[in-house]
Amino acid sequence: MQAYEDGAYEDWNAERAAAIIAAGKDREGPLLPILHGFMAAFGYVPEPAVPMVAEALNLSRAEVHGVVTFYHDFRREPAGRHVVKLCRAESCQAAGCERLADHLEEKLGIGFGETTPDGRVTLEPIYCLGLCALSPAALIDDRVVARLDEKRLDAVLAETLR
Ligand code: FES
Repeated sequence: MQAYEDGAYEDWNAERAAAIIAAGKDREGPLLPILHGFMAAFGYVPEPAVPMVAEALNLSRAEVHGVVTFYHDFRREPAGRHVVKLCRAESCQAAGCERLADHLEEKLGIGFGETTPDGRVTLEPIYCLGLCALSPAALIDDRVVARLDEKRLDAVLAETLR
C-alpha cells in the first residue's frame, strides 16, 4: 500500500496507457494485470483507457467496465491525498462498523467511493483486512488501525490529516 502524496502518479496520457496495454496483452489472463498497470501508473483506471483495452483484448467496453467495477481495488477517479478504507465485511459489521461508516460520512461530508472537494481525503470500503479478531478495522493510507470506535477513529484521523 502507499500513501497518496501529490505527484505520486502520472497524469493520464494515452501513449502511456497504450504502452501498458502492449506490455500486458499477450499474457495469459491479460485484463487484470493491465488494469493493475493503470492503477500503478495513474492511481486509477481512467475512463478513456477502457475502450483502448476493450479493443486490444477483443472485449466489449461493458465487459471491461464490469471487471473494473467488480473489484473494489480499481478506482475510477483519481484518489485524494489520503485514503481512508473502512472494513465493511462481516466481522467488522458485527462489531459495529456501520456506525463508524455513518460517522465518517458525516465527518468528511462525503459518501463511500467519494473524495472531498479539496482533494484531501478519499473514503472507500474494503472487505476484510484479515484483522477480524480486532474488528472493527480500517486502513488509513498505509496504516492499519483496529479495535476502532468513534473516539479512536477521530484521533487517528486528526493525526493523519493534520
Ligand atoms: S471483516 Fe473486517 S477485518 Fe475481517
